[in-house]
Amino acid sequence: MTTYAAETERLYLEPLGVQHLEDFHELWNNDEAVLWSYYMILPTKETWDIDKYALLLKDEKNEKGGLKMVGFVGTNRWCEKGMEVGYCSNVEYWGTGYTTEGFKTFLELYWTLPERMNVVRLVAKTHPENVASQRVCVKCGGKKGEVLKESYERFVDGGLKSDAWLFYFDRPGVEVKDGSDGRVETEAPKEEKQEKGDGA
Ligand SMILES: CC(C)(COP(=O)(O)OP(=O)(O)OC[C@H]1O[C@@H](n2cnc3c(N)ncnc32)[C@H](O)[C@@H]1OP(=O)(O)O)[C@@H](O)C(=O)NCCC(=O)NCCS
Repeated sequence: MTTYAAETERLYLEPLGVQHLEDFHELWNNDEAVLWSYYMILPTKETWDIDKYALLLKDEKNEKGGLKMVGFVGTNRWCEKGMEVGYCSNVEYWGTGYTTEGFKTFLELYWTLPERMNVVRLVAKTHPENVASQRVCVKCGGKKGEVLKESYERFVDGGLKSDAWLFYFDRPGVEVKDGSDGRVETEAPKEEKQEKGDGA
């Protein structure tokens, strides 16, 4: 039986993987879906500190018989304002509330991940005209931050930089100071300490 990372009333969240390739292709192969993006950052050995989850419909199957992936949510990369977060959904499913439902649950899950305890601030950078994305941020508890001048790049703009509207998501119970890069020092995981100790 498949174990999922989290679930909502209508969705499962599963780490994004090759099993989602066809649905990912369907989603990404659409001009509207990629309008606000520059490129897609996937978790690899080099990007070990990012996390991406597929949003799977509990009650709809894809052509291969797996659960239909309607979108994905997750982290992208570090920036000076915190760890960047983002999401993208298949246009066929826009306006259904799945992204909001999935992103809210992703945030709850993220704050419980033992390997991410050093992260205290996630940040969404939105294009000023991307109202749908800003609505998702607000509905998921994002705190409107500053406007970063000329710092949003889109593939369709071919190098032109737009302003970015920031939305912050702070670790619950932690007071994050303005200007923080969203990271704190944490103790090294026990296994790591053990390994070092054994090798000495
Ligand atoms: C942003 C995105 C994920 C939203 O997906 P979605 O399925 O429409 O999301 P939801 O249904 O959960 O909610 C979207 C909210 O935005 C609103 N919205 C959707 N399209 C809108 C538009 N063109 N203008 C204004 N508001 C819009 C919806 O009404 C809803 O808000 P409401 O509940 O207050 O009415 C989707 O548009 C997308 O994949 N866009 C391309 C990728 C992208 O922009 N990623 C974010 C980069 S920062």
